[in-house]
Amino acid sequence: MRKSMTRLLAVIIAACLLLGAVPATESQTPQARIKIDIDRTIGEVHPNLFGNFAEHLGRMIYGGIYEEGSPLSDKDGYRQDVLQVVRQLNVSILRWPGGNFASGYNWKDGIGPKDQRPVRPELAWNDLESNRFGTDEFLKYCEMAGTEPYICINLGLGTIDDARHWVEYCNESRHTYWADQRRRNGREQPWNVKYWALGNEIDGPWQLGHKNAEDYSKFALEAAKAMRSVDPNIKLIASGSSNYGSNADWIHWNSTVLNTLRNQIDYIALHTYINNRDNDLEKFLAWSQTIDNYIDVTAGLIKQAQSGQPNPRPIFIAYDEWNVWYRAFNREKLEEVYNFEDALAMGMFFNSFFRRADVVKMANLAQMVNVIAPIMTNKQGLFLQPIYFPLVEFSRQRGNQSLDVFVSAPTYKVGNRPALRYLDVSTTYNAAGKTIYVNVLNRSKDKDIATRIDNQEGELLGEVGVWEMNHPDLKATHTFGDDKKVRPVTRTISASLSNNGFSYTFPAHSLTILRLRLK
Ligand code: AHR
Repeated sequence: MRKSMTRLLAVIIAACLLLGAVPATESQTPQARIKIDIDRTIGEVHPNLFGNFAEHLGRMIYGGIYEEGSPLSDKDGYRQDVLQVVRQLNVSILRWPGGNFASGYNWKDGIGPKDQRPVRPELAWNDLESNRFGTDEFLKYCEMAGTEPYICINLGLGTIDDARHWVEYCNESRHTYWADQRRRNGREQPWNVKYWALGNEIDGPWQLGHKNAEDYSKFALEAAKAMRSVDPNIKLIASGSSNYGSNADWIHWNSTVLNTLRNQIDYIALHTYINNRDNDLEKFLAWSQTIDNYIDVTAGLIKQAQSGQPNPRPIFIAYDEWNVWYRAFNREKLEEVYNFEDALAMGMFFNSFFRRADVVKMANLAQMVNVIAPIMTNKQGLFLQPIYFPLVEFSRQRGNQSLDVFVSAPTYKVGNRPALRYLDVSTTYNAAGKTIYVNVLNRSKDKDIATRIDNQEGELLGEVGVWEMNHPDLKATHTFGDDKKVRPVTRTISASLSNNGFSYTFPAHSLTILRLRLK
């Protein structure tokens, strides 16, 4: 009798764990389940989710991607060693010139013969701007790197005329004043810049030309109309809120922007920088709750702005600044030294973007080189920070459709927030290659999580590709001459299939991409 009671209890506990109903304790082996169904699609994983950002800030441009006179640069000043690792990063779209810098920038200072360009005080970051890297240098860089350019206009201290002239300079094919200036500067064909941001973080009091929601929206609407009449094919990104201090304020900002600009814009921008100030891994990797919330609330506001419209314009989210940023906040020109746990956070961001692939259609890591960046340079060379590797892999190993997977796993809580699963998961599918990618972040500091992976449609093949990032030291970092420590490992395993599924254990504090094939 006692034996059968014990067995019953064990069955109940196992069932609860499987449903994620009770948090795992130290003594129990956690159990989880991931159920894949290729028919349950969320949306296209847009190639623009693998974007990056290059601001005139610290050593991002000068001394980063561009260093005139360096033996590592070509004759025009582009650092060739940096270009090579930027290409490997598969940057799909590159935002420029800021950031906060954009709100004080006069693009007309940055064209024509370099030696005649004015040096200006740079007010956002308290620097000097030589203007030796300007519009043509940026657009040429994008061509060399094989990335789509994305320009942020100055809606802080700038004018609407400046904005429409910039579009004319870049995109006009007829003989107009600004198109002919471009020709004189060496570029006959239009650059055809498709993506344009209507200012940066204008809701932030730190921004040059900061405005309230109503003033920004009116100004941005007129700028959008003027820019579109120069080139009707451009895509416009409104400045969403980045000032999350007060819940009501950021929601009011996004709602006002969306309601005023709903017939003009294609995207609304979101920005999020996360931190591990409490030095608590599991809390750090719970930031996905905040990111998911920003996305879900903004997606709701988009719906609200579109509702009742007979023919609503599609509007998406451009998460055009995201990263971990807290150690080098006001020092050393934002040169964050990233560690292994930050690499885990890269997977967390992508999982959030993929899970809302229906609405998040662009994302730009902030930033690309030296400034809160995966690539660090000095005069002699460069090194790759641990965050570089997941960025490469998420862009490379993915299907073009995001799938809505069922996940049950042991949970934990951060403060009063709802419980969250230790396993943070997203899944993508490539129908042409019959390949499924399962992206799993195990946020547990010390628990390996044995997981059953089941597939619903199509027969799984036993060969599974594994890409994994893990390291015993959460704080492990790289430096010049020593950037091989925190690197991913890859292997192929033969899964023992049963009932179109198999078991896999995700190690504590690890990021894994499983590549599954269907027959
Ligand atoms: O990426 C660094 C800065 O962070 C950007 O200039 C600004 O937009 C944000 O506040």
